[in-house]
Amino acid sequence: MTDTTLAEAMEAEHHEIDEGIYAYLNGDADGRERLEAAFEELRRHIYLEEVYLFPPLRDAGMMAPVFVMLREHGEMWQVLDQVEAALTVNPAPDSSTAALCRDLLTRLDAHNAKEEPILYPELRGILSDSAAEQYLAFLEDGERPDGWVCERAAAGPPTSSPWG
Ligand SMILES: [Fe+2]
Ligand SMILES: [Fe+2]
Repeated sequence: MTDTTLAEAMEAEHHEIDEGIYAYLNGDADGRERLEAAFEELRRHIYLEEVYLFPPLRDAGMMAPVFVMLREHGEMWQVLDQVEAALTVNPAPDSSTAALCRDLLTRLDAHNAKEEPILYPELRGILSDSAAEQYLAFLEDGERPDGWVCERAAAGPPTSSPWG
């Protein structure tokens, strides 16, 4: 049993992802690599949430917040795709890629500001110790299955919600 809770580890991963995106925006020498690593980390983070964490939260009555999180994942996933496509065409940092990255950071900030205080604290009472340990281990070295995309990756325009 580790001293780090799953909620703490998930929050730490939010910060790591932000830092990777900032490394790119700040023009760090390894910024491109850190951006790519942050993007894969975010996609994997979303996989863990959508496949393993959100279903029990939904079953415990958190339907509305989970709905909003899924919608925001879908919107962010599309931004990830846009940045990756832009980098394929033009690997050098440019203003449009930077603008997309800043848009992603804004979305992440709003998303994490809801997920961290509203959803993550519920995990402790819902998940068994063994499940929480399994997901902590996944954060260490787990992988998103090839080709997995989030539930709302191809969703249309954002829908309104009282949680939005
Ligand atoms: Fe998250
Ligand atoms: Fe999330």
